[in-house]
Amino acid sequence: MCLHVSFRFLIICSLLLVEEALGNEIVSAKLSKVWGPGLKPHIISMPARYFFIQAVNVENRSISSDIGIIFDVFLEGVSKIQKPCRIWTNQLNRKDGLYIIRYKLYEPCFNFKIIIQYQNEHVDSSPYNILDTIYPDECDCSTGGINDFLENWKCGPVPRQIIEDLKPFNMVDWDKTRIKVIEKFNQPHSVSLCHYILKNNFIYRNCYGKYVGFKMFMDSILLSLSRKVKLPNMEFFVNLGDWPLVSEKSEKFPIFSWCGSTATYDIVMPTYDITESTLENMGRVMLDMLSVQGNVKDPWQDRIEKAFWRGRDSNQYRLDLVEISRKHPDLFNVSLTNFFFFRDKQDIYGPKTEHVSFFSFFDYKYQLALDGTVAAYRFPYLLAGGSLIIKQESPYYEHFYNDLKPNTHYVQIKRDLSDVVEKVSWAVHNDEEAHFIASNGQQFANENLLPQHIFCYYAHLLNQFSTLIKSNIIILENMEKVEQVKQQNYCDCKTTIKDEL
Ligand SMILES: *[C@@H]1O[C@H](CO)[C@@H](O)[C@H](O)[C@H]1NC(C)=O
Ligand SMILES: *[C@@H]1O[C@H](CO)[C@@H](O)[C@H](O)[C@H]1NC(C)=O
Repeated sequence: MCLHVSFRFLIICSLLLVEEALGNEIVSAKLSKVWGPGLKPHIISMPARYFFIQAVNVENRSISSDIGIIFDVFLEGVSKIQKPCRIWTNQLNRKDGLYIIRYKLYEPCFNFKIIIQYQNEHVDSSPYNILDTIYPDECDCSTGGINDFLENWKCGPVPRQIIEDLKPFNMVDWDKTRIKVIEKFNQPHSVSLCHYILKNNFIYRNCYGKYVGFKMFMDSILLSLSRKVKLPNMEFFVNLGDWPLVSEKSEKFPIFSWCGSTATYDIVMPTYDITESTLENMGRVMLDMLSVQGNVKDPWQDRIEKAFWRGRDSNQYRLDLVEISRKHPDLFNVSLTNFFFFRDKQDIYGPKTEHVSFFSFFDYKYQLALDGTVAAYRFPYLLAGGSLIIKQESPYYEHFYNDLKPNTHYVQIKRDLSDVVEKVSWAVHNDEEAHFIASNGQQFANENLLPQHIFCYYAHLLNQFSTLIKSNIIILENMEKVEQVKQQNYCDCKTTIKDEL
């Protein structure tokens, strides 16, 4: 503490204060690291661009404690009318030495610079000067083909899940299969299915079913991609429901679904939930893979050593969990927030409790991941929060589950929850290992589930699937054109890029 405030001591005192706050860690501007797609905004356009800063100390060790917001980040550039560009920046402190910077652009921006400083010294390779004009994500800047896109975006190899999912389909002849798919799944009260055609980078569709509102998520991701890349001409079906559809071994139909299962042959794509949060990053959706990380209250060591869970009564396991937790209040904080399926059991498993903000889940060290009606789509956000995930075995999966390893990225429990008490107490007694697995899970999320990766997954999937189609791509009469978002006058990226060539 600084008690003397004479002028002579003031400087020494403030230095001491900084060091106290940093837990005696001395940050090195040069050794601290900056990376992420947001450093190449002219190549990688997203609704919200983002990059990371890792604080590193003078001994070249990553800092892993909360040292407060210490980096100064400036994003600057000039607009068409020579004013500072309108940019909204958001700095997220993960409270473990890692920072996420994200920004949204509201107009084209020239001479864009990213400046990152620590105590007036440039960090890593700052300043980052972008010579090309950068455009808001709403602008249609699609010029290149999909292979260029995959390379520019550093999408990496085709995900294994896509290879697995497409294995049963050596070739797709829609002239033969189209009518069969429509006949089989045109069940308006139980199935919601949309038929899409992409042609010359325009999108056409026709939906079957009574409830097809969720087509907006598929429309949005396709429109967004078609502003970034010329999509291949192709035809496909999307199941808008949660349940996978393709259960017949004898005749497998290629249908895209949000959720897969070991008993079905649907081709999985990222869920509508993570798709929306990708597209609405820094928009109307609060919960996304980045905001989760920036809104946790405590670093690992300050979180409560209990397993936390909230949710509705989607299945018997969730009720069982309530019962188990009551026997072990020292290990669990669990309750149902809504009764819908088991209304008659409310006096046994209730009362339902108040809604808890998702960010507050991470006041607790351990998070239980239980299925809902199918896979619970909150799983990516749970991983991102940095607590230890204790996940129920399940036949259902999202597009990335098969890349996760139990005891590496999360702890697995039996489907009937018979070992959940054992596994939670293991975590309590093996804190270091539990923390390690939690960090791995969070790192997996940052390397596989951020907006960049979701765009890449769709691009890979569409690209791979398009190569299997042998029939001609013809827009059918009953199809509706999915309109691109309105293009502002300033969206002149195509002409600019052409001029440069
Ligand atoms: C600091 O550590 C990183 C690996 O974490 C290494 O690549 C780098 O060369 C090191 N820098 C110095 C100056 O030792
Ligand atoms: C369970 O968690 C909620 C939300 O964090 C908290 O308000 C409540 O006090 C906790 N209950 C117990 C018994 O710790």
